[in-house]
Amino acid sequence: MYCFYRKHVVMIDKATIDKIYSAVNIVDIVGDFVSLKKRGVNYMACCPFHNEKTPSFVVSPAKGVFKCFGCGKAGNAVTFVMEHENMTYPEALKYVGKRYGIEVEERELSDEEKKRNDAYDSMMEVNSFAAQYFVSQLRDTPEGRNVGMSYFKERGMTISTIEKFALGYCPADGDSFTLKALAAGYKEEYLIATGLTIKRENGTYYDRFAGRVIFPVVSLSGRYIAFGGRTLKTDKKTAKYLNSPESEVYHKGKTLYGIYHAKKSISQLNRCILVEGYTDVLSMVQSGVENVVASSGTSLTTEQIKLISRFTKNITVIYDGDAAGIKASLRGIDMILSEGLNVRCVSLPDGEDPDSFARSHTAEELNDYIAANEVDFITFKTHLLLDEVRDDPMGRAEAITDIVRSIAVIPDSIARAEFARSCARMLDSDEQLIVTEVERRRMSVTDGRQGGEVIRNYQRKAQIEQQRQEEQTPVVGKWSAREELEKELLTYMLRYGCRNFYFEQRDAEGHRLEPVSLNVAQTIVEELEVDGITMTTPLYKELFDSYVKIMREQESENEVLASEEESAAIVAAADGAETADTAVTDNVSETEEDKPDPDGVRLSRMVNLPDASAASFVVDMMMRTDSRKPSKIWSRFDDNVRTEADNLSIAVPKAIALYKLEVINGIILSISSQLDGSLAESESDEPSEESLELLSQLRALNDTRKVICQKYSRIL
Ligand code: CTP
Ligand code: MN
Repeated sequence: MYCFYRKHVVMIDKATIDKIYSAVNIVDIVGDFVSLKKRGVNYMACCPFHNEKTPSFVVSPAKGVFKCFGCGKAGNAVTFVMEHENMTYPEALKYVGKRYGIEVEERELSDEEKKRNDAYDSMMEVNSFAAQYFVSQLRDTPEGRNVGMSYFKERGMTISTIEKFALGYCPADGDSFTLKALAAGYKEEYLIATGLTIKRENGTYYDRFAGRVIFPVVSLSGRYIAFGGRTLKTDKKTAKYLNSPESEVYHKGKTLYGIYHAKKSISQLNRCILVEGYTDVLSMVQSGVENVVASSGTSLTTEQIKLISRFTKNITVIYDGDAAGIKASLRGIDMILSEGLNVRCVSLPDGEDPDSFARSHTAEELNDYIAANEVDFITFKTHLLLDEVRDDPMGRAEAITDIVRSIAVIPDSIARAEFARSCARMLDSDEQLIVTEVERRRMSVTDGRQGGEVIRNYQRKAQIEQQRQEEQTPVVGKWSAREELEKELLTYMLRYGCRNFYFEQRDAEGHRLEPVSLNVAQTIVEELEVDGITMTTPLYKELFDSYVKIMREQESENEVLASEEESAAIVAAADGAETADTAVTDNVSETEEDKPDPDGVRLSRMVNLPDASAASFVVDMMMRTDSRKPSKIWSRFDDNVRTEADNLSIAVPKAIALYKLEVINGIILSISSQLDGSLAESESDEPSEESLELLSQLRALNDTRKVICQKYSRIL
């Protein structure tokens, strides 16, 4: 959290703010102004913010918060000082910091911004230095030539392939690269951030890729963003490939190996061939097939697919014979279908992978083989699954469900119908049955996407309008129903965001669909995103945005933790098994019981919000026990009194649906009145272009509304 001094562009950096918050004891701070009496684990006093005779002001040192049950004021140590002493946030931070002897440094914002940009550029520079270093090691040193180069030669790589893909070698001694880079003036910080260097606890360095041949990963724009290193050892204990960790410059899920060299050919041929590994790409390119990229062993992500779809909508996936591998990647493929891409699959003969096949065949043979053997994905999957289950009726039913699921995500309705028909033939099953199943399934994967664009645009306009009006007169209570629903959704996110709930839908004819387990916070966030809805009440918008930020931060922290564990394991493996064992036992010592309540953890990070009313809302959520009283919205629609937590399965989807409908209805009303105006103005009988546009917007919104009503019919 960066903190701005009103108009001055000075800031207190996040590390200092964190330091202050971790040092502060709220009892010290509040105790300086109010006489606190201990009551159990908490402290009590008469509230300094309103007049009272009996104390209702509670301070919880464990939670780091205060709350007055009389006047409702609540917050953390810093917001207490802000309110009590009438200070700004930075002033209060400095005050609290000073009390604990923490120097609050201020720097020019532009400097800090520059530093962050510097980090990105520096990491790119380090990577580029490393790429050149690895190349020259491979070419110009005896070790590189004898070990690395002879390995590539043995695998049949030509010099021109090795050069084109900047393949390299990292010396085996363990720290040559790092020492060289440091001597050349690259900072340790960036060597570590890019994962090229791992620092041992005793302060010595280890080259992540020591003793490995190097496959640099090049971004779409031709920059070195990561490396893959293959070991030359054949023992099972050594990981065959090591890759650069996720970092500011490298996001594995957004990258495709080979895309920089392949993009031109992919556009020209209007087709992309997708393989699994580095060597598959290299051998195919070497044989003359250039429109090829690799997902680098992981299952495909939506972002990778989006990257491909910038160049072509036609993808051919090459599988090697191994069935487990094929099954693992099937999931990714459903995703390609849902993006509206045209996917074909081809299997290679037993025992071959694209690398070996390409080395023993010419480009022409390769292309002929693909043309003769590729089938559409649905056919491919159907054959594969049917082969597996043969005469087992249960397995067969499962296979059909699985295939139906794949067909259901295809956006084009004609293509869907075609696939349903051809599948019914292959499965020897009733055509109408499959078609119905597909359409039923479809209910669970579509959302009101057509309306999303209209909603987004409208909200943008409304926001500008609101700002304009606020400058003249403050708006009061304009969105009260909307506001209440926003509060409702936030309550679920803040109190139960980490929990899961079961959601059961019905399709258009009221058939039940399989219930799915969904995460509360993720569902709310995604559901609003898919229809382009943002919260409008400023307080709730701020809470929503900072909740999402923390949620995403936690996700990337988990990634960082995983990569730190990986680094530790790499060093441990290099330094011998003994250390590896300690690393493992260290991990086990954390038991389930030590794990704090995940919703509580998120809330405690939000308590530090600079805005007093936002912090107060968060504290309310922390202090509220489940009073076994239903929330307002819930009681309006159901007489059975249950608690919120019991009811997540109904309450969360209901709040989402009601909120969406409220937003859409508001926009429909406003567009309708614009339409009336536009029709009245028009002089000819022909509706104006504007009216037509408004009409089509109304249609999209109504469609969206219909989809929402159907999806939530059970609970609305
Ligand atoms: N991979 C990885 N880490 C591993 C194994 C595999 O990152 N431990 C990725 C690499 O991108 C690799 C791809 O998955 O290229 C496919 O794995 P595999 O088929 O095992 O490797 P090949 O590319 O066939 O490598 P080689 O032929 O050298 O064995
Ligand atoms: Mn291979």
